[in-house]
Amino acid sequence: ARIDKAGYKHFMAKEIAEQPTVLADALRGYLEDDRISLPGEELDFTKVERLTLVACGTAFYACLTAKYWFEQLARMPVEVDVASEFRYREPPITPGTVALFVSQSGETADTLAALRYCRDKADKIVSVVNVAESSIARESDLALPIHAGVEVGVASTKAFTCQLNVLLLLALKAAVDRGHMTQEALSETLSALRALPGILNAAMARSDDIERVARQIAEARDVLFLGRGLMYPLALEGALKLKEISYIHAEAYASGELKHGPIALIDKTVPVVVLAPRDALFDKSVSNMQEVMARGGKVLLITDAAGAAEAGQDVWQTIVLPAVPSVLSPLLYAIPAQLLAYHTAIAKGTDVDQPRNLAKSVTVE
Ligand code: G6P
Repeated sequence: ARIDKAGYKHFMAKEIAEQPTVLADALRGYLEDDRISLPGEELDFTKVERLTLVACGTAFYACLTAKYWFEQLARMPVEVDVASEFRYREPPITPGTVALFVSQSGETADTLAALRYCRDKADKIVSVVNVAESSIARESDLALPIHAGVEVGVASTKAFTCQLNVLLLLALKAAVDRGHMTQEALSETLSALRALPGILNAAMARSDDIERVARQIAEARDVLFLGRGLMYPLALEGALKLKEISYIHAEAYASGELKHGPIALIDKTVPVVVLAPRDALFDKSVSNMQEVMARGGKVLLITDAAGAAEAGQDVWQTIVLPAVPSVLSPLLYAIPAQLLAYHTAIAKGTDVDQPRNLAKSVTVE
């Protein structure tokens, strides 16, 4: 089928907007009533002792998010690494290890090489891919499709949330397999997940607010992203999106690391994007945010209504999202992170779909 922009100005805008639909489709491919059923061979997590997650770029941040999920939900030891480091470090792969590779294209050279390194060492090679006929899919024991559809924009958007979706389903399955989650708790999370596409649409409606903020962010030379827990990998992804397409220097830090360096950068010219739903770590994020504001930093707080009511007073700008169960927050907060990068790039007049120096798929080392 011919892929066109379907009335959108850019593929990236179209792909951001498609997320509720592709996520709903993807879920259908993995759920049978209230059970998680993986396409292809069954994966029994009771026998898995350790999970090694490897990827590059945005897919790496999806893996980093998954580490939090697998550890918290399934109490499972997880290692995460970028493929270019993993492949040359010669990491020991112990028996009971499942090696999992995440790749939109399924052709990234470093990720494929890391997979081959694990070939005869890991108990099983699993991949989470968008392109089902790709090298990484073909060389895996089990290839799990993310069902994002063709992604044209060089900066990954819908592939990221669809990767998160499959990784979350895997973590939930692991939690049930390993006796850390009841069927009742699973059913509850799955119904929240089924309701998520509607909630993502509500987040999409913040686009105009985000565009207004983005026009000011476009003036900045540096932008800092802060997040704790599940919002830390998302902060990294938000900073990556922004630098990829707007060419503004953006860095992400775990909020708690602020005082170990980045606080030295804070002044009134540096916007600080704080990703903080009103969850168990909220108070800690707020105190980090206050440290920024005490030094004249301009805080853009992305939170929910409860978070805005509690901490939205003295911040520079607030974007309010619907409230979701904490475990789902990365899928929701990805939307404003993507929209912020998109609108900032538009304000700067850069080539959003084809940013300079970047390739959609890096098939050479
Ligand atoms: C390139 C793309 C990124 C992508 C990364 C990994 O850098 O520009 O958007 O996240 O490669 O690609 P993969 O296809 O393995 O997910």
